[in-house]
Amino acid sequence: MHAAEAATRGLFITFEGIDGAGKSSHIDAMAAHLRASGRSVLVTREPGGTPLAERLRGELLNTPMDELTEVLLVFAARRDHLTQAIEPALSRGTTVLCDRFTDSTFAYQGAGRGFDAGVLQQLESWVQHDLQPDLTLWFDIRPEQAAQRLSTARSPDRFEQLDTAFFHRVRHGYEQRARSHARRFVRIDAGLDRESVASQVADVLKARGW
Ligand code: TMP
Repeated sequence: MHAAEAATRGLFITFEGIDGAGKSSHIDAMAAHLRASGRSVLVTREPGGTPLAERLRGELLNTPMDELTEVLLVFAARRDHLTQAIEPALSRGTTVLCDRFTDSTFAYQGAGRGFDAGVLQQLESWVQHDLQPDLTLWFDIRPEQAAQRLSTARSPDRFEQLDTAFFHRVRHGYEQRARSHARRFVRIDAGLDRESVASQVADVLKARGW
C-alpha cells in the first residue's frame, strides 16, 4: 500500500533565482512539455498559490514590516500552500512546478536580510517536515544584468526596489544552498539569451527522462 502510493506521487520541481533572472517563461514551457508527455501538471508560485497565501503575498510585496514578521508570513503562506495545494496535488500524482519555494527564504531573508539561518531551518522543518523538491532549477544571473532587465518592467515591488548589494547577497545565498543541496540543485546560466536558457532547461529534463 505504502509502496504503491509512493510510486504514484508527483514530481515536485521548483524554480529559483534573483528578481530579473527570467524564470517565468521557462516554467510555462516546461509545463507544456510535461503535459505533452502525458503528465498532469500544476503550475503555482510562492508566496501565493492559494487564496489565503495570495492575500499574504500582497502584504509581503507591498507593506513595510519587520524581518521576523516577514519570515513568519512567508512560512504561513507556505503552510497554507502546502496543505491546500501542493501536498494534495503530489499525492494524486500531479507534477507540481513551483515558482520559488523555501530556497528563496534562505536566499532573501537569510542571506539577503541577514535573518538567523538556524531559525529558518527550524521553521522549515516545522512547516514542511522532510518535504524537499525533487529538482530545483536555479536561474543564476549577475545582479547587474538582472537589474537591467527589471528596469524595463512594471513598477518595482518591495523586494525589487532593493539595491544591487542585496541581490549579491541573495545570489551568494543561492550558491550556498546549491552546494548544501547538490543532489536536487541544477544551475542554469540565466545570463544567456532566451533560446540558450531554454535548451539548458530542456537538457535537464532529458537527462532525467522527463
Ligand atoms: P516573484 O517576483 O518571483 O513572484 O517573487 C516575489 C518576491 O518575493 C521576490 O522578490 C522574492 C520574494 N520572496 C522572499 O523574499 N522570500 C520567499 O520565501 C519567497 C518565496 C519570495
